[in-house]
Amino acid sequence: MNNFIDYKNTVAEYINQINFSTEPKELYEPIAYIANLGGKRLRPILTLFSADIFGAAPKDAIHAAIAIEMFHNFSLIHDDIMDDAPLRRGKETVHEKWDLNTGILSGDAMLILAYQYFENYPPPIFKDLAKLFSKTALQVCEGQQLDINFETRNNVSISEYITMIEYKTAVLVGAALEMGAIVANSSDSNKRAIYNFGRDLGIAFQLQDDYLDAFGDTATFGKQIGGDILENKKTYLYLKALENGTDEQKEQLLKWFTDKEGSQEKIAAVKDLFEKTQATTDTQQLIETYTQKALLQLETLEILEHFKKELKGFALALMSRKV
Ligand code: IPE
Ligand code: IPE
Ligand code: MG
Ligand code: MG
Ligand code: MG
Repeated sequence: MNNFIDYKNTVAEYINQINFSTEPKELYEPIAYIANLGGKRLRPILTLFSADIFGAAPKDAIHAAIAIEMFHNFSLIHDDIMDDAPLRRGKETVHEKWDLNTGILSGDAMLILAYQYFENYPPPIFKDLAKLFSKTALQVCEGQQLDINFETRNNVSISEYITMIEYKTAVLVGAALEMGAIVANSSDSNKRAIYNFGRDLGIAFQLQDDYLDAFGDTATFGKQIGGDILENKKTYLYLKALENGTDEQKEQLLKWFTDKEGSQEKIAAVKDLFEKTQATTDTQQLIETYTQKALLQLETLEILEHFKKELKGFALALMSRKV
């Protein structure tokens, strides 16, 4: 896992030297702010790692890695507006620190900046990266729209929920990994397998995010705890609680989710229902299932054994994350 620290440092060094202090500052300051708040930087780490696995120098994938991280940060600025979130990475969200318009436009600019990083590649690689990126970015928007649509629907199925998280979160993890393989000119079957690995891992990752949103700790997780409950998000926790609960528990949960008047009382009551209905243990189980599903994809990869071990270690470590 030592490599992961090296990759993270490579990403951090690159982001540190970006000159964001261009005019107008009202546009660029929020971009510098969110980029320098850091975060785990999982996606760009995976891009560099993937390039390494498939035989390229990790530094050859740095621009693709930064593009992915810029896109991710853009999506967070807009996601925090849509989710009415006050806290990101332990600090005020962009739209809270500045205002709504700033969040919208700085986010837009960050999306365009992301695209620009692909210009560092020669035409055939550029084309493949841009194609994958556009497809993925559009799916993220589709997933985000489904997420919002589900807030006001009370008949969301589990398969609809899985599709929603696959689009809003998992495809970007898959794409981050595939980009490393693209830069390394790897085979189509390797590209497919590493993408699928990332996608399944991404589903486990979002399930864990939903779990931590309710049961994590603000100090480590860096986000407002209970935010999904306040926003009536149809998470797996919620859907399973409805499925497992008694008629009375079901009725209580439905009632709590009828309006957006959030309170600490609502958060506590809903969390209690999540636990009492075993929705929490079911969520942990599904995280495990998708992690194992991801690991199965590794079998078809034609790569050195020690790389498979590291990918496996990475996947298993994610399951117990608290951040
Ligand atoms: C947050 O992603 C958004 C989700 C898809 C759950 P991360 O948990 O990777 O956030 P940072 O980049 O580490 O802050
Ligand atoms: C985020 O899902 C997915 C994207 C940002 C595209 P969430 O809304 O659960 O992410 P967090 O919890 O705010 O980071
Ligand atoms: Mg959110
Ligand atoms: Mg959201
Ligand atoms: Mg979340």
